[in-house]
Amino acid sequence: MWLPLHTVCLRGQTACRRSFVSVFLKRSGHRDANVSHFSGRSSKSCQALVYRTHGDPSRVIQLENIDLPPVGAKDVLVKVLAAPINPSDINMIQGTYAILPDLPAIGGNEGVAQVIEVGSLVESLKAGDWVIPRDAGLGTWKTEAVFGEDDVSSLPNNIPLLSAATLGVNPCTAFRMLSDFEELKPGDTVIQNAANSGVGQAVIQIAAARGIKTINVIRDRPQFAELSERLKAIGASYVVKEEDLRRPEMKELFKVCQKPKLALNGVGGKSATELLRHLQFGGSLVTYGGMSKQPVTVPVSALIFKDVKVRGFWVTRWKRDHSHDGSAFRAMLDELCALIQQGKLTAPACTEVELQDYHKALDAAMQPFTSSKPVLIM
Ligand SMILES: NC(=O)c1ccc[n+]([C@@H]2O[C@H](COP(=O)([O-])OP(=O)(O)OC[C@H]3O[C@@H](n4cnc5c(N)ncnc54)[C@H](OP(=O)(O)O)[C@@H]3O)[C@@H](O)[C@H]2O)c1
Repeated sequence: MWLPLHTVCLRGQTACRRSFVSVFLKRSGHRDANVSHFSGRSSKSCQALVYRTHGDPSRVIQLENIDLPPVGAKDVLVKVLAAPINPSDINMIQGTYAILPDLPAIGGNEGVAQVIEVGSLVESLKAGDWVIPRDAGLGTWKTEAVFGEDDVSSLPNNIPLLSAATLGVNPCTAFRMLSDFEELKPGDTVIQNAANSGVGQAVIQIAAARGIKTINVIRDRPQFAELSERLKAIGASYVVKEEDLRRPEMKELFKVCQKPKLALNGVGGKSATELLRHLQFGGSLVTYGGMSKQPVTVPVSALIFKDVKVRGFWVTRWKRDHSHDGSAFRAMLDELCALIQQGKLTAPACTEVELQDYHKALDAAMQPFTSSKPVLIM
């Protein structure tokens, strides 16, 4: 999320960050981003994108050789195949995210890896399997890693590499937001901003697969028509420019399409307020990102006359709340992989970048209007 820590943290900033970090480190084991693994005691090493201080990613991230810990009985040695650069990865390096690892740390929170070797007590995985992290914080921008068996979930290895690499965060966020806030039936409508984002593209496709219409709001740009066509090609019902949300044409749209029950907000500021204006009575605005870095303003009329529900969602929290029994996460991954195999869910538009060219990838990840997610290919 492009949010300074104080805007996502409702409790005292320091206390909140500490408690998140300690839970985060304890749950994930967080071995590969822990300082002890930069100690030079192991014989096996790999290349990793490391940061030793928080700051501008293109300045603080460096490609380094790091030691790998030995493969324990319940561990797997993996070769990382591909890992995207998401906004939250950037915020973590900048030191502005809600959870922060101890430093030095390895960047990246998702990606797909192939199991090379398994420890003697590993039961659920074998060499050749594809795996993705179950939680944030494993540090995926590296060529190889030793993960606990319980830190990863397997995926079928017959899905496209980029779909696997980008499955664990954005499609899961889209899936949960379309499932957990409003009971949506075929024919119902969802409105969302940042519709060309990774989350937005997953929302479009999962909604389309469920027969739900989407009104997709994007910022104007010279290639608006091209981008609009691209979003319609993956299932967007309507694509609207931010500034058109206040125009009378929206009334025409609602003659042929129901008012949305659910609004998904990845931007904040005026954009979120405009989404609220179009919600139906009693509908929900769910905020999952704050790309504009502006707070969400809720008009009094939306609360009084429409009784809208204003909620938030964080997939990391959801995964942790469901980690005691992995069945809900497994069921979601299976459903998403089935959509991928049926051709109903494709990876977001991505730019593949060799690990060595990480500077280009980090720069690209911080540019607006690119409509393409950089993915590091190891
Ligand atoms: N809460 C959660 O669990 C969760 C999970 C996943 C992601 N997220 C958050 O969701 C957001 C999107 O993530 P992503 O990986 O899908 O992003 P992404 O693929 O990198 O896309 C970024 C999106 O943000 C838009 N954007 C950038 N700067 C903007 C600005 N100043 N004003 C308005 N829009 C702007 C871009 O639109 P343009 O093309 O117009 O620049 C694009 O639609 C991030 O904030 C991320 O942290 C949250």
